[in-house]
Amino acid sequence: MQIEKLHVPVMLKEVLEFLNPQPGQTIVDATLGTGGHAAQILRRIAPGGRLVGIDRDENSLAICKERLAEFKASTEFVHANFADLDQILASSGIKEIDGIIFDLGISSYQLADAQRGFSFQEEGPLDMRLDKSSYISAYDLVNNLNENEISQLLWNFGQERWHNRIAHLLVQERRNEPIATTKQLANLVIRAIPQRYRRSYYRIHPATRTFQAVRIAVNRELEILESTVKKAVDILRKQARICVISFHSLEDRAIKHTFRALKYDGLINIITAKPLTPSPKEIEVNPSSRSSKFRVAERA
Ligand SMILES: C[S@@+](CC[C@H](N)C(=O)[O-])C[C@H]1O[C@@H](n2cnc3c(N)ncnc32)[C@H](O)[C@@H]1O
Repeated sequence: MQIEKLHVPVMLKEVLEFLNPQPGQTIVDATLGTGGHAAQILRRIAPGGRLVGIDRDENSLAICKERLAEFKASTEFVHANFADLDQILASSGIKEIDGIIFDLGISSYQLADAQRGFSFQEEGPLDMRLDKSSYISAYDLVNNLNENEISQLLWNFGQERWHNRIAHLLVQERRNEPIATTKQLANLVIRAIPQRYRRSYYRIHPATRTFQAVRIAVNRELEILESTVKKAVDILRKQARICVISFHSLEDRAIKHTFRALKYDGLINIITAKPLTPSPKEIEVNPSSRSSKFRVAERA
């Protein structure tokens, strides 16, 4: 295993502090990734404890099986969508858990693999499926939705200011040839944005929001959050905690509203009135942590 390929876990210290895993406990890592959080959780719960690690991405699970081999007796790997959390835990005979973590989005391991099509920096096929066995890819969406649908998608999932212009140019260009690669899409986005805004408006790469929006749509990332958090809270033991790290404001807003609704129903107490963010030191060492927000609630 190439260590440099592994994702650096975000806000690890904070996650361990708030999740507070103890020997013998049953913890769910719903977004296993390359196992950064899981490895440290396992150190605290094993032997005797149990970690259920879920990921939609088979490659990431394969890495974790190797990386976490020393904890084999305490680990269960599940290739699934966390949206099916209730069924996953029921089929493992688990009725109650002592904590759960969601570290949303994609890992740097997935981003770095050009063939997955997540990155506008690398030339690759326009894929973006977290689960390769799922049906619709970025190519399918980008080449088949109509102009209005693309424009809506870019606004709803990326809050992309130039959504109309990008959708318009995209539909024009795909008349000549399909938009098949990451660079094709990224270059098209740059050309769609008025020149004087290309630098000033975007501190980030101008295609960032478009790529985020298409990825969210391909994997239907936002629509499952609320129901999944509710399922997780349902199965938490009293005073056990749910920890959620999100990476953009749409995700964070969904978590904030779901927590509020659950608190209103008397099901949880919110531990973090405001989301925690990484320290300046962490951002310096791991710049990709910079937009993360961490929220914690406890089963009432
Ligand atoms: C930010 S990474 C997690 C990194 C991990 N905490 C670590 O330390 O290595 C997010 C992971 O969640 C997975 N994922 C995203 N949405 C998912 C879903 N709905 N169900 C299961 N896994 C999902 C992705 O495939 C990715 O591997």
